[in-house]
Amino acid sequence: MNELTDFSGDMIEYLAEQEKKSLLRFLTCGSVDDGKSTLIGRLLYDTKLIFEDQLASLESDSAKHGTTGADIDFALLVDGLESEREQGITIDVAYRFFATARRKFIVADTPGHEEYTRNMATGASTADLAIVLVDSRQGILRQTRRHSYIASLLGIRHIVVAINKIDLMDYSQEVYDKIVADYLEFAKDLGFETIVPIPMSARYGDNVTMPSQNMPWYQGPVLLDHLETVPVESDLIEKPFRMPVQLVTRPNLNFRGFSGEIASGQVAVGDTVTVAKSGQASKVRQISTMDGDLERAEAGQAVTLVLDDEIEVSRGNILVAPEERPNVADQFQAKMIWFDADAMIPGRSYILRTEADSTPATVTALKYHVNVNTFAHEAAKALHMNEVGVCNISTQAPIVFDAYKDNRTTGNFVIIDRLSNKTVGAGMIDFALRRAQNVHWQAVEVNKQAHAELKAQKPAVLWFTGLSGSGKSTVANALEKILHAKGKHTYMLDGDNIRHGLNRDLGFTAEDRVENIRRVAEVARLMADAGLIVLVSFISPFRSERRLARELMDEDEFVEIFVDTPLEVCAERDPKGLYKKAQAGEIDNFTGITSPYETPENPEIHLHTVGHEPFELAGRIEEYLSKLERKD
Ligand code: ADX
Repeated sequence: MNELTDFSGDMIEYLAEQEKKSLLRFLTCGSVDDGKSTLIGRLLYDTKLIFEDQLASLESDSAKHGTTGADIDFALLVDGLESEREQGITIDVAYRFFATARRKFIVADTPGHEEYTRNMATGASTADLAIVLVDSRQGILRQTRRHSYIASLLGIRHIVVAINKIDLMDYSQEVYDKIVADYLEFAKDLGFETIVPIPMSARYGDNVTMPSQNMPWYQGPVLLDHLETVPVESDLIEKPFRMPVQLVTRPNLNFRGFSGEIASGQVAVGDTVTVAKSGQASKVRQISTMDGDLERAEAGQAVTLVLDDEIEVSRGNILVAPEERPNVADQFQAKMIWFDADAMIPGRSYILRTEADSTPATVTALKYHVNVNTFAHEAAKALHMNEVGVCNISTQAPIVFDAYKDNRTTGNFVIIDRLSNKTVGAGMIDFALRRAQNVHWQAVEVNKQAHAELKAQKPAVLWFTGLSGSGKSTVANALEKILHAKGKHTYMLDGDNIRHGLNRDLGFTAEDRVENIRRVAEVARLMADAGLIVLVSFISPFRSERRLARELMDEDEFVEIFVDTPLEVCAERDPKGLYKKAQAGEIDNFTGITSPYETPENPEIHLHTVGHEPFELAGRIEEYLSKLERKD
């Protein structure tokens, strides 16, 4: 079943009728087995949106597989839909649509328990309401708190606390009251506009769409009634005009059109709009839509704007109200939710994607993470799976944004891992950092080229990576001697040495290694800028940071040299006696033993050290450099 088959009858007429009703977007959350599927199934069933034949098969399935005896197992309904989707029978529906006489609903369908935080954070930023399911037998759990906290971060203002499975607690008012009190106490500072607790049994339908006969003590609304009537008027239309440009088209010969969905505010023919990044302005000449031209359009509508002047608006830019501009900055503070098994490490490079921009970004400071039980701010070096933190972020290029509290569309972003392409985090921007606006680049006249010309050489960063004891420093030393003898200006940055000075505050945790490499990459860049040939000899075990280093340098400047020596050989050589200690458990996080080494995939030079002399290997690098120099 998908949103096209959720209803029968004449589609056009149906859609026209739906058009007039208000829409409520909501999601369900809570901990595993709280009855999410059963509740959604029950809502769909009771609002008569299940096809007759599906109903018949549900009844027979329940008898066969159900866990509910002779009753209908509503979870089977929703789970059935999921397996249908897995088989690729239906189009991918992340949202389930249904309607009653009073309102239409979109419920974010977020299957999969482990992925819950991810789905919630990426799929729910438009939700108006969250149903937090609580199992009456369990009360408020850690997950209840986390999901409620995330809901509040996402700007969801209305909460229903569905105190479910109350049938299993003899419909006890006492149990209900206790859970309500616990929830209200913990949620009091989360800023929700309404919190409505409802005792229910999704399985038997108590207080879902019909008042329960079993709980005469409960006088409040039933779930569906509340969903149909909770006021959720959007204030998006009153907000400043924002339209991220999704597509640049050419509706007629003379003018280009800019298509997108209006994220907030409104626009009319004759209004001036401004390109957020360049500040270029022009008047709106025409607003066209699929259904013809409009005089004015507002948040939620997909339109093509034709402007009076031929101005430069590329895809990924935002058209905005000239008197109420968004921020354009490359440093800001944000709240971030992390959902990958690999922790977020400050200094590591990720892709940050907003509605309009996509750019490399790093967390420059993780200020704290939030303990979801106590809401205490706790110091943290990394953000682990399902954690929420507040951090400063720096992007490679300036991005356009509003504060999330002002605009959920232009204030949110997701974080994408550069190697796996997975969405690993989501964030909400608080504000631009002023210091970014006050620190400018100072133009220098004696530049890199001038430095390099004086030294009669091409600057380079020779990045040696490999296990401890693989021979990095030995080969690098040999190479430096060769280069020095040829009159080249070189400098060696060696892990062990730098760790005595600049990086003496760093250890060997993943976080510290990332910072270690980030700093040394920046130093190497400065030295290359001074015209030097820099030899960097660090284990540098992670691909992301080697890539970060590469991206800091000019093209052809970064030469990754993989000093490839099998772990057994390194352990056998054991020049500093460290492998012996590590194997005895005396050193934590030892690369190759208790900490990973990610092999380079495409190094410029791959050296196998076994059976080769250091000078021979160094000679090969020197040859490579001579070739590079001849190329120029
Ligand atoms: S990196 O991983 O952060 O790039 P770096 O190259 O600076 O490491 O330092 C590695 C050197 O530190 C090794 O050659 C070794 O002498 C020493 N060392 C001490 N403890 C460790 C450890 N746990 N893992 C790896 N090297 C260690």
